[in-house]
Amino acid sequence: MTLRNEAPGPPTGLPRKIVVVTGAARGQGAAEARSLAAAGAHVVALDVADTPAEALGDTTEYRRHDVTDRAAWASLATDMRNRFGRIDGLVNNAGITWRARLLDVDVADLERVHAVNLVGPVLAIQACAPLMPRGSSIVNVGSVAALTGHVPVAYTTSKWALRGLTRVACLELGPRGIRVNAVHPGYIETPMTASASPAFRDGNVTETPLGRTGTVDEVAALVTFLIGDGSSYVSGAEIPVDGGMTAHGGVKSIADGLAAASDDPSPIPSAVIDETDVPHQRHCLP
Ligand SMILES: NC(=O)c1ccc[n+]([C@@H]2O[C@H](COP(=O)([O-])OP(=O)(O)OC[C@H]3O[C@@H](n4cnc5c(N)ncnc54)[C@H](O)[C@@H]3O)[C@@H](O)[C@H]2O)c1
Repeated sequence: MTLRNEAPGPPTGLPRKIVVVTGAARGQGAAEARSLAAAGAHVVALDVADTPAEALGDTTEYRRHDVTDRAAWASLATDMRNRFGRIDGLVNNAGITWRARLLDVDVADLERVHAVNLVGPVLAIQACAPLMPRGSSIVNVGSVAALTGHVPVAYTTSKWALRGLTRVACLELGPRGIRVNAVHPGYIETPMTASASPAFRDGNVTETPLGRTGTVDEVAALVTFLIGDGSSYVSGAEIPVDGGMTAHGGVKSIADGLAAASDDPSPIPSAVIDETDVPHQRHCLP
């Protein structure tokens, strides 16, 4: 019989794992809770909302919990220790945005966003890590804003800071056998993005090679993989789940412009590429 904390297990299921997910009342967090529960985990779903806005899965328990509240984390840790003796997974998903730009942002708003997006995950790790056995996993939900110079300054700086936390935690918790990774979603259809302007959505789609927005289930699948034993040697990784948006470094509009100006607007032929006939050179940068 293979013990959970020995050799890597198969990338299937999370039987008996106790997994805490923050910001789980709706959107990506709710999808992560459902996905983890479907894989067999007992999910502890936390959110400031009094009740979840969506179904979270049969093996999920829901608690009202503000991630910025240190006492709430202490209380949760005590309860988890008494009931389960451990926590196997933590998903720092809760996050808020604030769209003010650099010259307009109020420092109070900047601090409020950092309190949820950065201090919350710090408190969560401080409370949960002491209960995590070897083989446990933490996932921080960042953003493509943490990979670019995205304009909402409070949000962008908080998510860049979360990247730093991910790396520090990977370094500090690795010797305890705890893995720490980050996922960086692109534009995902959730209540958060529902309040964004159509221009913002359209701009994201335009810059995304896959040409569409993402779904909560596409993020949840990656988070579930990173919490599970199938990713047992993955730590300190930062994985975009963004349809390729951050892969091209802003060059997509140039490539699209060249393709539009060409007499052959199709991309590189996928079936056969004859090296003596390289039409794709028309689309190359100088
Ligand atoms: N939707 C996107 O396009 C997108 C893109 C990149 C990153 N993200 C990140 O993904 C995560 C989830 O985003 P979403 O789109 O599902 O957002 P959402 O606004 O739909 O859901 C966020 C949840 O977090 C909860 N929350 C807020 N403050 C909290 C607090 N102090 N304590 C506990 N819970 C709190 C909210 O009540 C809400 O249920 C966030 O960290 C967000 O920054 C989202």
